[in-house]
Amino acid sequence: MDKIELITRPIEKELEAFRQLFDSSLQSSDPLLNEVLAYIKKRNGKMMRPILVMLMAKLYGVLNDATLHAALSLEMLHTASLVHDDVVDESDKRRGQSSVNAVYNNKVSVLVGDYMLATSLRHAAYTGMIELVDLVARLGQELAEGEIIQLANTSNQEFSEEVYFNVIRKKTAALFTASAESGAISVHASEEAVRQAALFGEMIGIAFQIKDDIFDYFENAELGKPTGNDMVEGKLTLPALYVINKLGTEEIRELGLRIRKLEASKEEIALFVELIKREGGIDYAERVMYDYRERALALLPASTEEQYRTALTTYINYVIERNK
Ligand code: IPE
Ligand code: IPE
Ligand code: MG
Ligand code: MG
Repeated sequence: MDKIELITRPIEKELEAFRQLFDSSLQSSDPLLNEVLAYIKKRNGKMMRPILVMLMAKLYGVLNDATLHAALSLEMLHTASLVHDDVVDESDKRRGQSSVNAVYNNKVSVLVGDYMLATSLRHAAYTGMIELVDLVARLGQELAEGEIIQLANTSNQEFSEEVYFNVIRKKTAALFTASAESGAISVHASEEAVRQAALFGEMIGIAFQIKDDIFDYFENAELGKPTGNDMVEGKLTLPALYVINKLGTEEIRELGLRIRKLEASKEEIALFVELIKREGGIDYAERVMYDYRERALALLPASTEEQYRTALTTYINYVIERNK
């Protein structure tokens, strides 16, 4: 049986219901808006966040309509953030097709992303649970904060891992935290269970973004989005930070600063990528990622039923071993 089947086996029916609800939620009476929404719907994502919401709901109680609307709200917010992210990153490909900004333009992307964000909030409201509305609203703030910190970081003179982890905790892990947390909240799990679930989601989310940052160092036809974009956009991720700090020479630090200021040439970046690989930057990032896997696994309650333990363990393994 393949990994995805093992992960989704306990929620097969509910995931199907979710997919239909998601597709029917992305509609408008305006022709242009509807056209762009239809374009976005042509390619689904991996649905990592709704799957986590639903698995956590089942782990802690009885999956219900509030669970489905929470999952929908989060996948919608995620998709909106990708539409905006491709504008911010000037990226021309997403989910194996041209990005919305590439097919239409930045204005259309900003407005469609806003529409989806508002749709996300409506589904949070449909849960009928004020905690979940608050959770989604706070999440939206955190995602934006993470992206702003990342943007401002291009003028930072230091190469601190702490800042890196702060950014990825906010821009990526927060969505996984919210997914696991809202799954537990939707079934009225105990406060302690909700806290554990949130932490579990956070550990997975950090591993998820480290994996995404490693992807950027390799050609990958399956990925469906461009690689090699991070340093071109002035972003130094964990493999690069590690090697800069490990070598610590004036020369390498100066190169790091020039990359951030978008002053390094394509050739310099290509040589730096090779150096990072030779100096163990990727191996280091992988070790850190595996460490987050262990931390996540340690958070699963001892009483976890076998089918959920299998699904969630496979979920984490998929996060770090996936090739898309
Ligand atoms: C992409 O997330 C954005 C990151 C946090 C790196 P996914 O890789 O889950 O995107 P889709 O939804 O499957 O396309
Ligand atoms: C990931 O940002 C988090 C988002 C808000 C999309 P990235 O810019 O690193 O993600 P990708 O690689 O474009 O999906
Ligand atoms: Mg980005
Ligand atoms: Mg991007």
